Amino acid sequence: MRQVPHPPSPLGVVGDGRVARHVLHYLQLLGLPAETWSRRECARDPVDTLASCPTILLLLRDAAILPFIEAWPALRRARLIHFSGILVTSAAAAAHPLMTFGDRLYDLATYRRIPFVVDAGGPPLAELLPGWPNSSFSIAPADRPAYHALCALAGNGSSLLWLKLFETLETRFGIPAAAAHPYLSQVTANLRDDGLRALTGPLVRGDRGTIRTHLEALAGDPFRDVYAALVEAYDNRA
Ligand SMILES: NC(=O)c1ccc[n+]([C@@H]2O[C@H](COP(=O)([O-])OP(=O)(O)OC[C@H]3O[C@@H](n4cnc5c(N)ncnc54)[C@H](OP(=O)(O)O)[C@@H]3O)[C@@H](O)[C@H]2O)c1
Repeated sequence: MRQVPHPPSPLGVVGDGRVARHVLHYLQLLGLPAETWSRRECARDPVDTLASCPTILLLLRDAAILPFIEAWPALRRARLIHFSGILVTSAAAAAHPLMTFGDRLYDLATYRRIPFVVDAGGPPLAELLPGWPNSSFSIAPADRPAYHALCALAGNGSSLLWLKLFETLETRFGIPAAAAHPYLSQVTANLRDDGLRALTGPLVRGDRGTIRTHLEALAGDPFRDVYAALVEAYDNRA
């Protein structure tokens, strides 16, 4: 007689913030079961609620992860995993998704493309999150703060620069922010396709006069120092 395969065990998901919403949506798209607990929505304690879960994802604010484990030590009978880029602890394994998660949910293809960064020497992603088809890379735990700092600088740093342009176009020049969207799309496409060759403008041309004029035009604006720091960083590239 053929054996009926066991259904996969549910993945425990703690938290109901942005990443938790994305993870639950992804699990639904993959057809994988989940049990959820958040302090807002569950009257029961998390140990009872997640009793059937061999693995529990702690998708909490970084600073709340360790206090949560300490508050519910019985949860440690399960494999605990967090998605924080910087938290290093023996109490839970790290699997950092190299992605940004906002309010809007993504489609299955987008979720499947997200690489995860796990700890070198620790369990591989296929063991941490069985059934997830994502690729993964491993780095030394001690390198994770530097890795995550650069992720945040690239993602949020570039967003802040674009928001500054959008807002200034609208408020100072009466130009709709959307007028800069083709520029943003092309910068992204060039970066992806050509890497370093995506850089153009006075920096690459070595046009110091134009850079000086730009810095003078931004006098008194905090973004003047950001521009100057970027020029310095470009000059110091190996
Ligand atoms: N967002 C991203 O783009 C991104 C990308 C990669 C990795 N991550 C990582 O994913 C994790 C979750 O981030 P997120 O963006 O989803 O954060 P978030 O939207 O701010 O959600 C945080 C969640 O933590 C809960 N929480 C906070 N303090 C708590 C406490 N003391 N006890 C119980 N629950 C508590 C919040 O509940 P309340 O609403 O009740 O406060 C909320 O459900 C973090 O480790 C983050 O570093 C995020």
